[in-house]
Amino acid sequence: MTARSSLRDLDWRALLRDAPNGYDVGADDRAALEWHAGKGAATYGELLPDAASALLAWLAPTTSDVFVDLGSGSGRLPIQAVCETAVGRAVGVELSTGRHAAASRARDLLASAMDDDGRAELAQRLELRCEDLRATALDDVTLIWMSSTAFPEPLFAAACRHIDARAGRLRLLATTTALPPPWDRVFEAVGSLHLATTWSPRTRVHVARRRSAATVPPIAAEAAT
Ligand SMILES: C[S@@+](CC[C@H](N)C(=O)[O-])C[C@H]1O[C@@H](n2cnc3c(N)ncnc32)[C@H](O)[C@@H]1O
Repeated sequence: MTARSSLRDLDWRALLRDAPNGYDVGADDRAALEWHAGKGAATYGELLPDAASALLAWLAPTTSDVFVDLGSGSGRLPIQAVCETAVGRAVGVELSTGRHAAASRARDLLASAMDDDGRAELAQRLELRCEDLRATALDDVTLIWMSSTAFPEPLFAAACRHIDARAGRLRLLATTTALPPPWDRVFEAVGSLHLATTWSPRTRVHVARRRSAATVPPIAAEAAT
């Protein structure tokens, strides 16, 4: 096969067809994750590739955007973002070491199909972090995806708090569950999509943006309790 010099030219779906996935992690890995992040946090499921294309088309990332998948599993969504869109950078943040390893393996498979220019583009545009989404750096992030369906409530609330505190450049936040109070007032809904996931053919995706500071209701005291 001819080595590709651009991510746009890769048939990434074919390359990753038999790559390790996010389901095949051991019991110890799941237990460690749930010890840190709460019961239910290790539950796995993915946005299906065609649905991910629809999401990415809707978000319409440009070269100025930084897209982050908080809880990125096998890394398919950030990989798809750099292969199919103009996004400047895509980041996958995953706490499970097994799932992070699967994502790293997927990235290595892409790299092996590319020439030096292609590998340089991959290294520059795709970042995979094995860390807690509640502590990850979000300073330059503009677009966030969070598949929150199985997240325990405290994890989801802590994620919203972290995003509010750290993602100062945020444009859009897409989640698979509605934002809990008070975060539904800090971020305002801008629309919703129904997308196919591995657990439902029509998962509702909630898209929100930060309200301007001037219009956020006075909730600071409530948020702190
Ligand atoms: C439902 S999967 C989503 C996979 C992928 N993002 C998608 O939408 O197709 C949720 C992922 O979040 C990860 N996760 C759970 N708690 C986390 C935490 N505190 N920090 C980072 N990742 C976490 C799980 O291991 C799992 O891989």
